[in-house]
Amino acid sequence: MLVQLDPAAPEPLYRQLRAAIAREIEAGRFAAGELLPSSRALAADLDLSRNTVNLAYQELTAEGFLESIPRVGYAVNRDLRRYLAEVPAATPSPHISWETRMGDLGDDLPHVVRSPERHSEPYAFVVGEPDVSLFPTAAWMRAMRTAMTSDHIGASLGDRFDMDDPLLIDMLAKHVLPARGINAAADEVLITMGSQNGLYLVSRALLDRNKRVAVEEPGYPDARHIFKRRGARLVPVPVDDQGMVVPRSLKSIDLVSVTPSHQYPTNVTLSVGRRQQLLAQADAQDFVIVEDDYDSEFRYQGRPTPSLKALDDSGRVVYLGSFSKFLAPGLRLGYVVADAPLISRLRDLRRYMLRHPPGLLQRTMGLMIEAGDYLRSVRRSRHALKDKWERCVECVAEHVPWEASLPSGGLSLWLPGPEGFDAVAAAADALTEGVVVEAGSVCFLREPAPRNHLRLGFAGTRKEAIEPGIAALGAILRRKLA
Ligand SMILES: Cc1ncc(COP(=O)(O)O)c(C=O)c1O
Repeated sequence: MLVQLDPAAPEPLYRQLRAAIAREIEAGRFAAGELLPSSRALAADLDLSRNTVNLAYQELTAEGFLESIPRVGYAVNRDLRRYLAEVPAATPSPHISWETRMGDLGDDLPHVVRSPERHSEPYAFVVGEPDVSLFPTAAWMRAMRTAMTSDHIGASLGDRFDMDDPLLIDMLAKHVLPARGINAAADEVLITMGSQNGLYLVSRALLDRNKRVAVEEPGYPDARHIFKRRGARLVPVPVDDQGMVVPRSLKSIDLVSVTPSHQYPTNVTLSVGRRQQLLAQADAQDFVIVEDDYDSEFRYQGRPTPSLKALDDSGRVVYLGSFSKFLAPGLRLGYVVADAPLISRLRDLRRYMLRHPPGLLQRTMGLMIEAGDYLRSVRRSRHALKDKWERCVECVAEHVPWEASLPSGGLSLWLPGPEGFDAVAAAADALTEGVVVEAGSVCFLREPAPRNHLRLGFAGTRKEAIEPGIAALGAILRRKLA
């Protein structure tokens, strides 16, 4: 196998190795089903750590290039031809060095890798995947048809430069934000293309290479990539069963990024005491808090806790909301609530990026909320998800061979395994039996990242698949621990 790696390149070695192996496979230099060298042999051959080789193999497995064969190793996916047919071959540009022109992103953190074909596995506990069958299609179509009538077509199809749809802003202020304890004026709200877009805009406005950002550990990897690419220094802050363990001092921190409703990925809720500590420190030490409230409504016992923003009277909390989890991530709609001067800057940044999120989507959403269909749909989803969550909790208690504490909320389960348990290997084994779960290592900033955490998304999983899927997973876990 022809592999040339450059330790001085900005791209981590495991990504370079992954790309080299993928190229060899795409070029047909391996037969379908052919075994790859063991990680030990390849590591020795290339003078790399086994970890680097394993990471490359795991990514290739997640992407469908390889399959993991328990107790044998990694082989080229036997279904590869079908898969490759869907992947357009990259066209080499021998005369231009794009890498030199584009420069370094300054981001060597590992990425969350998810391949779409995993949804068709029999027991797909895919994290972040909603149940699209719950989407209120009829109500959405009704609202969209109305959005195209003469009263609304200007708002739906016109160019608004940097402005948002006033109807959607009004509906958010009247019907959505009050449920989170937030009062906001029109100039304190910006519509985004999802909370990730909000995180990006806020980072663009507030961060540079002199800034330090405190992030939850474990935490949301995509937020870290965004902060890192602005050049900011990341400071991990541990999380326990009450959420972020607020340090005695957060001096010299410029921004704290938190997920208080259901901490990502553990799902614990930030306790009231911790919220007060964090707000008091933000005041005393002059930092900004970004509250990512991506799935607040999905609490299955008791009422959703009010947002951190609701407790904030200093204006230091920048609130990120999203329709991704309550309706569908493919809509790409969310919002930021913050003090007017910051919103005005975000609006200016957004203008030169995309002007504004599509008017038709904004007007349709505004009309859905006005008709009461949005809140009805959130209630229905909460019911359906509560059902699945309860089923998952019962099945985990029955089949997973260790004690798991599962906070009541969110869209996925976080299962820390015993010390020494290898969740990365377990997830690869599970995939060979049609069970899609994820290892949690990518959520950690520290190195080496702990490898003993599993994540199971349940929102998009068929309810009938939960019991047999978790039973099959349990059998694999018992084998791994034996
Ligand atoms: C913690 C967290 N924040 C933000 C996002 C991004 O959501 P959106 O689709 O609104 O961009 C996600 C998506 O999974 C998430 O888990």
